Amino acid sequence: MKIAIFGATGKIGSQVATQLDNKGHEIVRIGSRSGDITVDYTDGASVENALKQLALLDAIVVTVGGDSKFKPYHELTDDDFRYGAERKLVAQFRVVQLAEQYLSDEGSITLTSGFLSHYPNPHSLATGPFNAAIDTYVQHAAPLLQKGIRLNVVSPAPVVEPARAGKGLVSADQVAEFFLQSVEGSKTGQVYRAWGGLAVN
Ligand SMILES: NC(=O)c1ccc[n+]([C@@H]2O[C@H](COP(=O)([O-])OP(=O)(O)OC[C@H]3O[C@@H](n4cnc5c(N)ncnc54)[C@H](OP(=O)(O)O)[C@@H]3O)[C@@H](O)[C@H]2O)c1
Repeated sequence: MKIAIFGATGKIGSQVATQLDNKGHEIVRIGSRSGDITVDYTDGASVENALKQLALLDAIVVTVGGDSKFKPYHELTDDDFRYGAERKLVAQFRVVQLAEQYLSDEGSITLTSGFLSHYPNPHSLATGPFNAAIDTYVQHAAPLLQKGIRLNVVSPAPVVEPARAGKGLVSADQVAEFFLQSVEGSKTGQVYRAWGGLAVN
């Protein structure tokens, strides 16, 4: 499969790229400053230009970092919420809408959310609710996609060094395995929870 990964040079994205590469897929690594091509995923024209250049793709993965603000609840401003909304939500939703025409039949899109949707902390109010929105978006949009295109999301718990992985803490390698299930499997509308064994509360 020819697979484009937005955020492929990041903590999670680099592991996803390595694991898919090891399985013999053709990987296009996309970053904002580094990678095979550079794109600002908050800029629709930049994303569409890249997808046009790469088509036809068999899968698209979005796991871009630096996408929200972490601050104590009472210090959050409108701009902090706008920052996360523009990146975590609008940018990912836009990739889904643009991707349909540049993916092959039965292709797939995999987004990223996070476990702060269910396990908040006092600094996570401008990110956790967005994670929940991404999960819901995927469940609602998946049945609407054409050409048999599948849409899933991976929701990671905090990523740590492999030696520290345990309940509620996962390694990038473990998270990447869920992306592989999404890309290589046949399911759609799924929220893959890489939560290190934590339950949905
Ligand atoms: N790490 C965690 O513990 C954790 C836990 C739960 C959820 N998540 C979620 O997982 C996703 C990835 O997290 P991560 O820790 O792997 O992130 P990360 O290491 O910070 O990812 C950085 C990647 O994103 C790219 N990038 C940054 N801004 C971009 C932009 N405007 N346009 C295009 N690419 C851009 C970077 O490209 P350049 O290097 O070229 O700038 C790089 O490839 C995020 O959605 C995050 O919220 C992470």
